[in-house]
This record gives sequence, structure tokens and C-alpha cells, in this order.
Amino acid sequence: PGPSLLDPFGRAVTYLRVSVTDRCDFRCVYCMSEDMAFLPKRDLLSLEELDRICTAFVGQGVRKLRITGGEPLVRRDIMSLFRSLSRHLQSGALDELTVTTNGSQLARFAHELAACGVKRVNVSIDTLDPDKFRKITRWGDLSKVMQGLDAAQDAGLKVKINAVALKGVNEDEIENLIHWTHQRGMDLTLIEVMPLGEIEGQRIDQYLPLSEVRRRLEERHTLVDLPDRTGGPARYVRVAETGGRLGFITPLTHNFCESCNRVRLTCTGQLFMCLGQEDAADLRAPVRASEDDALLRQAIIDAIARKPKGHDFVIDRDHARPAVNRHMSMTGG
Ligand code: GTP
Ligand code: 5AD
Ligand code: SF4
Repeated sequence: PGPSLLDPFGRAVTYLRVSVTDRCDFRCVYCMSEDMAFLPKRDLLSLEELDRICTAFVGQGVRKLRITGGEPLVRRDIMSLFRSLSRHLQSGALDELTVTTNGSQLARFAHELAACGVKRVNVSIDTLDPDKFRKITRWGDLSKVMQGLDAAQDAGLKVKINAVALKGVNEDEIENLIHWTHQRGMDLTLIEVMPLGEIEGQRIDQYLPLSEVRRRLEERHTLVDLPDRTGGPARYVRVAETGGRLGFITPLTHNFCESCNRVRLTCTGQLFMCLGQEDAADLRAPVRASEDDALLRQAIIDAIARKPKGHDFVIDRDHARPAVNRHMSMTGG
């Protein structure tokens, strides 16, 4: 293994999330406003530049890459990045190359992803009701996403479904989602809505604490705590009745920053050391300054030295402003 990137709190950064585009073919109501302005294409790093940055991180001890967006599979020629990054899986330098997607393009790409060494994908589905799905995503077609899931499972990919818990919107569907995912052999992770960027409406009206969801589930189900396995923020339980895994991502009700192992690269080359802080380090300048990676490697080391202790998300009546003025689609969660 390469040298490890240690932050000021002794946490090793072994996981890089890469947002390859801020664009998305959906507009989920908790993620974006309907008239969301996207970055001009000329500001984007090329796929070759993104590859170079990923490769520098792998050389410095990163073992897991997750490609995100926006919707990563809408970026032109994105498969060439997967194909190229798969060399790090083959060499053993990387443990996992994976993707978080809304599933709209998965039917087209699932087999190619699997051929690139991707073993599992995370797909966002907040509801199983096609009309509700269209409302949440503002125009998304659930049947296309379902075809994507079929293709993914057909290609041998393990699938994890992400669902954001939304007050009064899908809270009555959570049991259904559990049974449906587990029947199909998929994991389900529930996510608390986070105050990122301006949206129409108030976060407090969407926010459903997962502590409450869990309490309600436990009235009818037996949830058995599992030791953390993905090294991610989710805490997992086994649902005794279904035998499947259920994760809770609870930045609001239970902070997990002390074990944070990740940083996030945006499509313009900004490196965010924390999802919930404004601070970012620019990696585009060092990448463009020279063909040699020495500057880039040093910029990465300097950035990690700035990693903060954690986020300070709050959602309540007194906090009308987002914690950071940036949408989830910039950093892909
Ligand atoms: P695996 O554990 O590898 O399956 O991935 P993951 O759950 O970390 O990734 P995914 O992209 O599926 O993200 C699910 C949700 O977790 C998204 O809403 C992310 O924003 C959220 N998330 C991931 N990492 C962090 C983190 O470090 N802090 C916070 N607050 N949320 C995170
Ligand atoms: N809070 C919580 N989750 C969000 N997502 C997008 N925006 C937010 C937000 N403000 C989710 C998506 C996807 C994951 C990457 O992040 O639904 O599952
Ligand atoms: Fe697109 Fe994902 Fe944001 Fe929905 S949550 S608008 S699918 S980036």
C-alpha cells in the first residue's frame, strides 16, 4: 500500500468521492431547485485530468473511489473514465471502484460497469409509487430506473438503494421499501435530509429524524445491530423478519464524523475536505501547472492537513439558512 494521508485528527483518508458533473437529468426536490443553474462546461476538468487526480490519490493510499454527480452517467463518454480507472483494481492498488447513480441510465451502462470491475452500485429511489417518484424528481420515470436495476442485477452488480426520509412524503412507505429491497436481495439505506444549498421550501418541512423512523420500525420489526462493514457513514442493522440489511445515515441525529475516512473532488477540481464545510482546496491549478505530479501530490497533502473535525448541520426553526451554500450535486453526497 502507498503512503497514507493522515489528517490532523489522525484519520486516514482512504476514500475519494469524485463528482464528475454537477448536472442531473432529475431535480429531486430536496437536492435542487427547479431552475438550478449548472456550471458552464468550459469550467469542467477533462476526464483525463480527473483520472490524473484520482491516480495521484491512489498513489497516496486511497483504496476506494466512488464516482458521483449530479448524475455521473449523464457525463459524455464517462465509461472511458471507468475503463481507465479499472487499471488500479487490476494492479491491486485499489480495493473498490463504485458509483452512486439515480439509475436513469443504468440499463445502458450496467454491463459495461461490471466489465470495468465495478462490483456494486448505489441507486437512489425514494418511493415505489410512479406518481410520487415523478413529483419528488420533478419528472423522473420510475420504470426506467427499474429497468436499470434489472440490468444491474443481471450484470451481477450488487445494488444498494438509497432513500432520503421525507416527512409526509415517503414516511408511510419505509416498510414497503424494506420488504421490496430485501426481497430483491438489495440493501436499503435511509438518509436524513441535509441542509445543503437553497431549495424551494424549508428543510424543516422535509426533515424526518431517523431516530423516529427507527423507533417506529422497532414496534413491528426486530432490528439487530451489525458491525460497520463498508467504512461509510451508515450504521447497519439486520431486519430479522426479512433477513436483509438496513442502513441509517444520520448526520443530524447521530454524528459519525469521528470515523470519517473521505474527501470529495468536484468536477472543477475543488477538493472538499468535509461535506458540511465551505472550505475547499483547488487541485485544478496544480494539475494544469505541469505534467509532473509533484505539485499535485503536495497540494493533496496540504489539503488533507486542512480537514476539519466535522460538520455542524442543524435543522430546526431557528436555522433557516443552509449549512453550506452548495448543493449535494456539487459533491455527490
Ligand atoms: P457505501 O458505504 O460505500 O455504500 O457508500 P455511501 O453510503 O457512503 O455512499 P452513497 O453515495 O450511497 O451515499 C449515501 C448518502 O450518504 C448520501 O446522501 C451521502 O451524502 C451520504 N454521505 C456519504 N458520506 C457522507 C459523509 O461523510 N457525511 C455525511 N454527512 N453524509 C455522507
Ligand atoms: N440531503 C440528503 N440527501 C440528499 N441527496 C441529495 N440531496 C440530499 C440532501 N440535501 C441524496 C440523493 C442520493 C445521495 C447521493 O444523496 O438522494 O441518494
Ligand atoms: Fe439528481 Fe441525485 Fe440530486 Fe436527484 S438527488 S436531483 S437524482 S443529483
